Amino acid sequence: MQLIESLHDLPPHRASAKHPTALVPTMGALHSGHAALLREARNIVGPEGSVLTSIFVNPLQFDRSPDLQAYPRTWKTDLATAEAEGVDLLFAPKAGEFYATDHSITVAESLLTKHLCGATRPGHFDGVCTVVLKLINLLQPDHAVFGKKDYQQLAVIRRMVRDLGVPIEIHGLDTVREDDGLALSSRNLRLTPEQRADAPRIRRALLAAKDISPTGEQGPEVYLNAARTHIEQSTAGATIDYLQLVDRHTLQPVAKVTDPTLLATAVFYGDVRLIDNIEIGSKP
Ligand code: PAF
Repeated sequence: MQLIESLHDLPPHRASAKHPTALVPTMGALHSGHAALLREARNIVGPEGSVLTSIFVNPLQFDRSPDLQAYPRTWKTDLATAEAEGVDLLFAPKAGEFYATDHSITVAESLLTKHLCGATRPGHFDGVCTVVLKLINLLQPDHAVFGKKDYQQLAVIRRMVRDLGVPIEIHGLDTVREDDGLALSSRNLRLTPEQRADAPRIRRALLAAKDISPTGEQGPEVYLNAARTHIEQSTAGATIDYLQLVDRHTLQPVAKVTDPTLLATAVFYGDVRLIDNIEIGSKP
């Protein structure tokens, strides 16, 4: 595996990379969910292509500075994971070099980010788009792979690629979960044992709402109440940041649950914010 830590070392890589190439952008603290993304990248490019990954804790996408400071950094195990997953190139730029000190251009999204995480984390998706577009420009991958746990992120990146004509194919991979249903996240490392034991209720809450769907119920509040009740019964202080039913394509709130819609939530355990989502519809 080749490790590149400076933007200046990228041109030789670009000239010699074996195509097709697939990028898995990450912020490190790699877990089995990232490993699944890297394996998907390998499936896409085949044994002759190249799997690229990046580790960069992007300051532009953190709206709260304590969250940026507390973001887990596990460099040594990340290196071992990337190596074990057959990564060809690991790009790990330094924050000071990645963005110039007088950096003044960002990418802005104005529709898909009105609700869900976009509403409660102002500027977050503009930061994500900016870093992802820059990584794509620097590494010039043919494909990039993202997890569906960050459903809104995936939708926003697809929209950016469409609207700005970025020459890349975007792939989404289903959420990888612990045996008890908790979606894998680097943030899970920051939960106390009591919070960790309680957190699978997020998944159970979403499943409880989905269970209503075969009845043909169309009222959003019925689904939302079912999920909310589960989360509010938390014994470890879970609080809901948002819980919303949105159209899967536009990510705007729905008045009726008719076609498959997305039920998405963000839940705080202390200052640790976990997200998850499920597709539900009124038809069985
Ligand atoms: O999903 C993430 O880990 C980040 O938002 C990403 C896509 C690596 C951009 O920093």
